Amino acid sequence: MQPIKLTENIYWVGGIDWDIRNFHGYLTPRGTTYNAYLILDEQITLIDTVKHYLADQLIARISKLIDPSKIQNIISNHVEMDHSGSLPHILKFAPSATVYTSEPNGLKGLKRHYKQNWNFKSVKSGDKITLGKHSLEFIATPMIHWPDNMVTYCPESKILFSNDAFGQHIASSERFDTEFPKDLLLEEAKKYYANIVLPYGKQVLGVLETVKQIPADTIAPSHGLIYRKHIPEILAHYQKWADNQTENKAVIIFDTMWESTRMIAKTIAAVCEKAGIHYRLMDLKVAHISDVATEVCDAKYIFFGSSTLNNQMLPTIAAALTYLKGLAPKNRTGLAFGSYGWSGQSVGQIEETLKAMGMTLLPQIKIQYIPDESELNAAAAQLEQALNGH
Ligand code: FEO
Repeated sequence: MQPIKLTENIYWVGGIDWDIRNFHGYLTPRGTTYNAYLILDEQITLIDTVKHYLADQLIARISKLIDPSKIQNIISNHVEMDHSGSLPHILKFAPSATVYTSEPNGLKGLKRHYKQNWNFKSVKSGDKITLGKHSLEFIATPMIHWPDNMVTYCPESKILFSNDAFGQHIASSERFDTEFPKDLLLEEAKKYYANIVLPYGKQVLGVLETVKQIPADTIAPSHGLIYRKHIPEILAHYQKWADNQTENKAVIIFDTMWESTRMIAKTIAAVCEKAGIHYRLMDLKVAHISDVATEVCDAKYIFFGSSTLNNQMLPTIAAALTYLKGLAPKNRTGLAFGSYGWSGQSVGQIEETLKAMGMTLLPQIKIQYIPDESELNAAAAQLEQALNGH
């Protein structure tokens, strides 16, 4: 349990969660880390903590550097328990430490979560504190990821402690982006953005304007690798994702009872292929909604297909639509499709949801029982025509 040096007096002291595979519904095949940072100065300061069950890791790493009872300040950038969960443990060692949190939501949130009368000090955007040789400036970043979020900048070390912003769910012994495969890092950053940050594009664009003014040469998020080298790339990706800029790509999401809806999905895929549209064919029997969200993050076309079961769309499709509706992707084009036996409500139900998500709709494809070749050809021709006119 070693601390890892960022600068002469600033260390990573977080926890590595090798085994976590589901982060409230988001699959995390690579695990994650909860990053906490210790600044050694006249006032010893801890930035964020770790999930409660990794408190021992946090305490052990801190103890390699100092006696934890010497901590005078704790910066709580975010109330969510993956970052605040070990506050009670640390404050047992340093009960009079000042806990800095955002005004008003951080303060309210920490009090509601922990029901403790700790030595709180609430701060607003632009507030600064001096620790000795280092100072810290607080910048509110509401809704990235909760209303309480803030980030903390240390101008002397040029480190931005960005909390959830720019995070990735990756457990690794490597701590810096210079030590880790770039493609994997950016893919996990995209999955994280798609599943955690996507609904808050407007707020992200505001924060990016602020971050661009900050001369940070290190971005130290609260999950995954610390950025030293790929800062321009991750900022450019956040700009694109927050702007809802998409690629010429379709995600064809479906579930099927007797393979007929799959036949339509494959026909749609063939049309995409012919039209030069990249596509992903995602059968929800095997694809997870958090991976669907990752693909949706940069896809212009979102196509949903379902059989009709007991007058309803299939439950897998309903779940995926609910999840994606919450993530609120914008500027997308949708299409509902499906096979049915006699009542056939699923396609209309999907269309209603896509419409409620603000999508431009292509004409639906709805075929009774098992599609024959002429019906599939007609569906393909209809879609080709719609795409040409789009
Ligand atoms: Fe990593 Fe919103 O917590």
